[in-house]
Parts: sequence; structure tokens; C-alpha cells
Amino acid sequence: MTEYTAPSPTVAVIGAGPAGLYAARQLAAAGLQVALINRDIKIGGLAEYGIFHNKHKMKNGLRKQFRSLMDDERIHYYGNLAIGQQADLTLDDLRAMGFAALLVTVGAQGTKWLGLEGEDLAGVYHAKDLVYHYNQLPPYAGQPYPIGQRVALIGVGNVMIDIANYCTHDLKVAEVTAVARRGPADVKFTKKEMSLVAANLDLAALDAEIERTRPILQAVGQDPEAARDFILSALEKAEPKDSDTVFHLDFLASPNRILGTDGKVTGLEVEETSLEPRPGGGESKSVGLGTYRVIPCDTVVFCIGDRVDATFGLPLDKWQEFAKHPEPRYPDEGFSYEAYDPQTGQGVPGVFVAGWAREASSGLVGSARKDGENGANAVMKFLAAEPPATPATPPLAALEAHLQQLAKPIIRKPDWQRLEEIEAQRAAAGGLEFFKFSSNREMLAAIGLATVTE
Ligand SMILES: Cc1cc2nc3c(=O)[nH]c(=O)nc-3n(C[C@H](O)[C@H](O)[C@H](O)COP(=O)(O)OP(=O)(O)OC[C@H]3O[C@@H](n4cnc5c(N)ncnc54)[C@H](O)[C@@H]3O)c2cc1C
Ligand SMILES: NC(=O)c1ccc[n+]([C@@H]2O[C@H](COP(=O)([O-])OP(=O)(O)OC[C@H]3O[C@@H](n4cnc5c(N)ncnc54)[C@H](OP(=O)(O)O)[C@@H]3O)[C@@H](O)[C@H]2O)c1
Repeated sequence: MTEYTAPSPTVAVIGAGPAGLYAARQLAAAGLQVALINRDIKIGGLAEYGIFHNKHKMKNGLRKQFRSLMDDERIHYYGNLAIGQQADLTLDDLRAMGFAALLVTVGAQGTKWLGLEGEDLAGVYHAKDLVYHYNQLPPYAGQPYPIGQRVALIGVGNVMIDIANYCTHDLKVAEVTAVARRGPADVKFTKKEMSLVAANLDLAALDAEIERTRPILQAVGQDPEAARDFILSALEKAEPKDSDTVFHLDFLASPNRILGTDGKVTGLEVEETSLEPRPGGGESKSVGLGTYRVIPCDTVVFCIGDRVDATFGLPLDKWQEFAKHPEPRYPDEGFSYEAYDPQTGQGVPGVFVAGWAREASSGLVGSARKDGENGANAVMKFLAAEPPATPATPPLAALEAHLQQLAKPIIRKPDWQRLEEIEAQRAAAGGLEFFKFSSNREMLAAIGLATVTE
């Protein structure tokens, strides 16, 4: 790989979640200058604002790693700066500033709704909004998300468990029902995550579900006992029960519409499903049976994954992901990181995607880190093969000139470090594991950049 010496090319990494942070480190370690641009004031993305709020050990471990990589002087931080077609700057603005390449690591900020009747009722949420709310990301932190006593969660992945955890241990609601369009052998949550809520499982109801679904599972070669054993294995190290919340798993039920009265949720109508093997093997497929039943509830939360922000300014493919070049010139580990326009059949010159921006809702922090590093490798292969011309104005100076015209404060590295110190002091003073301001205004005021932005 090329080792750069000053004046070296400058790359813009957009998004300071795990993918962007580790990509920035990789690029800077090779001697490149990096503008790390982030919508949020603070770094970390979903590692800060997604991982469950009381996983202090994990979050603090990640924060420590992030702080250490931010020490590299070649990484220049610009927080509170959103890129997009309707944002502070567009991708074209950045291109015009002469960055040698743009690496997009903005995660999956779009919301994946199913277009069902009743999605607009009060009490219907998408998991991401609740997750951002309880993790205190502005503006979600300051917005109300009232949750009732009977909560239906759509999907059976780890995000569903996070919301079930919030409803069970924080809100202590009466009932949580996780609704799966497939069967007990197709759950996506891990044993470790299920252990957080396993003590509240209605075991008799689970047994009844296993019996009800048994013939359908066996018809596609699935083992109902193995599925039951996996779910119940979470009881071994279950988090102690601290609420009377009853947690149900409801299988072979695909959401059809949300029922309501006076604008409020009263139930989730599901279509009953069966399973079919997929041609060529792999996971089973759910097929609707044309029969319907209603799960009574007052709150519905979609925990079905996210999608990328369609207004960001990159072309989408037929799966609503940012399109990647099908024949990449600079692949890394066999993956394409090159943005692509399916309409023209051409790559988007000098623009790369990595992390959840490359593949929405896929994997843990470790895989986002790896993907960011691979994306950085792809960028470096591109720069080695197609060395950029030296722009008349250095890109960081061109960016500064633009930032002066914005009516909002931009967070630089010393500002972010100061904010971290102040939050740490507040935590120590209050005897808390961690303290977070819950609005941009409070954060900006704390570091002396008091302009009101929200
Ligand atoms: C609810 C939930 C819980 C999770 N819990 C765990 C867990 O316990 N353990 C684990 O290992 N993994 C967990 N994960 C997965 C992990 O958080 C992700 O794998 C990882 O954060 C993805 O990293 P990323 O950098 O691609 O995207 P993100 O983390 O989403 O980071 C995106 C960054 O881009 C910035 N951004 C967004 N839009 C723009 C824009 N327009 N302009 C500029 N910047 C922008 C954001 O401010 C953010 O900083 C969880 C995920 C979720 C959703
Ligand atoms: N603590 C942790 O480690 C942690 C916490 C949270 C998230 N994460 C990670 O973050 C990633 C995303 O997690 P996730 O839970 O959002 O996604 P996920 O694991 O893919 O689970 C999504 C769930 O939604 C269901 N679903 C999707 N589309 C649906 C539809 N149209 N109708 C009905 N159901 C639908 C899926 O069912 P099908 O299987 O039938 O498609 C699945 O049960 C995962 O890699 C996860 O492990 C990790």
C-alpha cells in the first residue's frame, strides 16, 4: 500500500460511527489527511446511540478505543455537520472542494415501514426512534414516545430484544408480544441477548406455540425441540426478573394491518403463515395462508431492520440499498465498496460506501469496523491507481470556507474532547456510570458554542 508524505491527499469520511472511525484511522495511518464529518455532535454512531443504554462496560470499552484513534492528528473532526440533498452540505459540495475521495459511512438512517394500514396511528413506532430516544440522541431524546401496557414487537432479532428489554426492565409494561412471520427455528436473536428478558417468558405459552407450529416446522425439516431448547437455553444465565411483564413469542404471523380507535392502536392484525423450503436450500420462506387473527395491543414497534436514507444523494439499487458497482475495480475481500448508478451503468467517481451504509442492519460493531477498514483499503487502491490532481485550494481550507457560511456551530476535535470531559465530570459529580446531555443546545452551551440549533 502507498505510504503518503505531506502534502498528502485528503479524503472525506462521512459518518463517525464504528465504520467511519476505523476507516479514518486506516486512512490516516497510511499518511492521508482525513476530514471526518458527522451528523451528530458526538462520535460513535450506534455504538453510542444504539447499544443498550446500560451496557456500560461494552460502551466504555468502545469509547476508549474511539478516543484513542481520534488522537491521530491527520484526522480532522467536523461534528454537527450533516451531508445530504436537504442537509448542510451536499456530496457535490464536497466533490467541488477537491477531496481525493469520499467514503460514505453514514449507517442506515432511513426507516423501513411496511406500508400497512394503521402505521400512522398514535402508538406505532419504529425501533430505531425508540433506541435513539432511550440512548439520548437529540432530537429523539427530547421527544415523547408514550408506550402502553400491551406492546406488540414485529420481528425477532436482537433489536426486538433491546426493545423488549426496555419495555420489561425500564418501563415494566404488562405484556410484550414478539411477532414472527416465520417459526421458532428461524429466530434471529442470540442466546445472550434473550437472557436479558428470558425470565419474563411465558413458558406455558411458548410450549403451546411449539406444539401449534410443530407440523409446519417438521414439514420443512426443522426440529421443534431444538428450536425450543435454543430459546430456553437463555434461562441458564437469565437476567433477574424485576417486573411482572409477561413476554410472549407469537410465531407464523405476518403483520397485515394495525387496528385503531380514535387514532390509537387497539390491535395488530396478522395473517397466519406456513413455511416452505427455499428452492436451492437455505432459510425457510414464510407464505401467507389467507387467514387472519388479531393480537390485542396498544403499542406496535417495528423491529425489522433499517434502510439507508434515500435523500442522502447516492443512487439506490432495487433492494433500496446504496448501489454498489457490480464489477468493482478496487474490491476488498471480494466486496464492492464503489458507489454506482444503476441508471447510467457507471460508477459514481471517487465515492465509496462502507459499514451499514453499504449493507443496512448487518452485523455487530466488529463487522462494521472490519467493513470500514476494507472500505478504506478500497479507497487507497483507487488513489494508488488513479492519483488525484492537487487542487488549487486544499480541500480542508475549501471546507472551512463553506463552514463559515453555515448558521450553526461545527464541532471540532477540541470541542468534542471538552464535551467528553464535562460529561465525565457530571457523571462523577452525580455518582453516575455515565452522563449525557440530551439536547444539542445543552451540549453546545456546555462547551461555549451556545447558538441554538434546535
Ligand atoms: C438497537 C441496536 C443495538 C445494537 N447493539 C449492539 C451491541 O450490543 N453490540 C454490537 O456489537 N453491535 C450492536 N449493534 C450493531 C452496531 O451498532 C452496528 O453494527 C454499527 O454501529 C454500525 O456502524 P456504522 O458505522 O456502519 O453505522 P452507525 O453506527 O449508524 O454510524 C453512522 C454515523 O453516521 C453519521 N451520519 C448519519 N447520517 C449522516 C449524514 N447525513 N451526514 C453525516 N453524518 C451522518 C451518524 O451521526 C453516525 O455517527 C446494535 C445496533 C442497533 C440498531
Ligand atoms: N446486542 C447485540 O448484539 C445487538 C443488539 C441489536 C442489534 N444487533 C445487530 O444489529 C443487526 C440488526 O438487527 P435487527 O434485529 O434489526 O435485524 P435482524 O436480526 O435481521 O432481525 C430482523 C427481524 O425482523 C423480521 N422482519 C424483517 N422484515 C420483515 C417483514 N417485512 N415482516 C415481518 N418481519 C420482518 C425478520 O424476520 P425474517 O427472519 O423472517 O426475515 C427478523 O426476525 C443484527 O446484526 C443484530 O445482531 C446486535
